[in-house]
Amino acid sequence: MAFPQPFMDELIARSDIVDIVGSYVPLNIKSGSYWGCCPFHNEKTPSFHVLQDKQIYYCFGCKKGGGVINFVMEIEGLTFPEAVQFLAKRAGMEVPTDNTDQDVARKRRRMLELNRDAAKFYYQTLLQPEGQGVRDYLERRQISKATAVKFGMGASPDSWDALMMAMIQKGYTKAELLSAGLVVQGKNGKLYDKFRNRLMLPVIDVQGNVVAFGSRVLDKSEPKYMNSPETPVYSKRRTLYGLNLAKKSKRPNIILCEGNLDIVTLHQAGFDNAVASMGTALTPEQIRLLSRFTKELILCYDNDNAGKIATEKALQLLNNTEFTVRVLQLPKRRTEDGEYVKQDADDFIKLQGADAFERLLTDSENGIEFRMAQIAGKYDLRDDQSRIAYCEEISNLLAALTSAVEREVYTNRAAEAAKITPDAMRLEVERATRRKSAQERKAQLRKDLNPAAQLQPQERSLRYENVASALAEEGVIRLMLLDDSLFPEVYPLQPEEFSAPLLGRAFFLLWEKRCAGQPVTLASLAAELSPEEMSHLTGICQKPESMDNRHKALADYIRIIKKEHQKRNASDAQEDPLLAATQKYRNKSGIGGKQHG
Ligand code: UTP
Ligand code: MN
Repeated sequence: MAFPQPFMDELIARSDIVDIVGSYVPLNIKSGSYWGCCPFHNEKTPSFHVLQDKQIYYCFGCKKGGGVINFVMEIEGLTFPEAVQFLAKRAGMEVPTDNTDQDVARKRRRMLELNRDAAKFYYQTLLQPEGQGVRDYLERRQISKATAVKFGMGASPDSWDALMMAMIQKGYTKAELLSAGLVVQGKNGKLYDKFRNRLMLPVIDVQGNVVAFGSRVLDKSEPKYMNSPETPVYSKRRTLYGLNLAKKSKRPNIILCEGNLDIVTLHQAGFDNAVASMGTALTPEQIRLLSRFTKELILCYDNDNAGKIATEKALQLLNNTEFTVRVLQLPKRRTEDGEYVKQDADDFIKLQGADAFERLLTDSENGIEFRMAQIAGKYDLRDDQSRIAYCEEISNLLAALTSAVEREVYTNRAAEAAKITPDAMRLEVERATRRKSAQERKAQLRKDLNPAAQLQPQERSLRYENVASALAEEGVIRLMLLDDSLFPEVYPLQPEEFSAPLLGRAFFLLWEKRCAGQPVTLASLAAELSPEEMSHLTGICQKPESMDNRHKALADYIRIIKKEHQKRNASDAQEDPLLAATQKYRNKSGIGGKQHG
């Protein structure tokens, strides 16, 4: 383990979870514990629970949980050692030096320096004769020199190793270049530059670090865009292209697009509040990042089918958040042959100009209007049968609106569109509401009737193979954490007897801590377990346990675990005749006498 235990214990003791969580999330005290709206998923009614006595948090909605370090890791997007540094600084404690975690932090710093040096190298190349191709391309795309500089654009030379050589000369190793994703290894084992003869677009985070690169070919060849892989300093899910600039914009909102060059064109045209998710669907992490800078988003995805689906998905993700969301719909472009083709923000501004885009921005619809228009577009409202079908579909949409005022306003509008009376439309919406709650009740019932599925951990890799044993194992761990005077009673149990690997490991770790005289708390396991594993264990501790019967309950749990373990052993033996023979021999000769007591 990287940080000395006494330091960690003091750090956790000095970082009260209610203080820390409370500085991000307003908490209310309710029957002795703290509740708030979960910062990790979108909700309006609090299901985020903080327990001061156990120093843990848990969300009953998204099932994330852990101790104070896990919380800081999750909310600040930090690694374990970074979260430790963060909390130490806050608590005014000095972090003991010379350990492997600092090594990780040092490696990250090195990688950021390498990326910055690579960006400088690409920038220099753009100014040199080898940069001519990219300079011509920028001109064709009407990207000005000032804009190129603002985005730190560059050119990768048409060479297999120009970047590699330049960086090695600066003192970086091949291993560092590989792990930053700047060079790749060919089948023959040779290393070569990943980006060659491309327009280079550095991806810069909100702190101003160059965390990755996007890049575009200069002709029609494939792949059009090539991006850095995930690295210790780059997570696609947590990054938005252009946010380093957009965060300084004076405009009150942020425009979300699909493509890197849409962002470049928008900024150049004065829309310096545009960001792109670089060709991927919007993620909850990106939404959280955005919420630090604005409460109003404008979705401006391509006006093709894929763009519509992306819009719908983003709207769902943003539903019930504090964000106001509008949808800017780009019109299709009519070609000379009278065909209508898709255009993105970049195409539109180049053809129609910035003023036309500003008008689209002003006229952009809210999410509901967008969805209503999508539905209306599917039906011919002059035809009676179609109007009936329209009313049915639209009433499902309206039934999902939580605000009564909104429901009223849009019910009237839908009635108008379908040319029926508002009363008739309202009846239709009420029917849809009843249908919806009946469906939800049914779904809940199905869930209640299938407890086995419900008991499984959220995280797929943690799924239980033997649910009966795993539930008993959960019980043992819960009791150990709730009352550490029970430790002597679990003595007969061995970690190998656990069916769920995580639970066996947690059991072992708790024992180790106990033997070393360290605090036996869930929060203290953060160094050894992943955030998913911590969330799962925290969830286990939230399940009800009657403390009046704790001794009997514990004995029952242990009995079940041992019985299930013997069953597994027996069936393993059946599958393997050699193992069966040895086991018979052992039983006879009394070897491995544990079973005989
Ligand atoms: P588009 O194909 O819509 O490209 O991809 P674009 O932004 O309009 O590009 P131009 O105008 O032809 O230059 C949208 C975004 O998806 C990502 C890129 O981030 C791109 O900007 N993408 C696209 C990739 O990562 N790889 C690809 O091969 C294509
Ligand atoms: Mn484009």
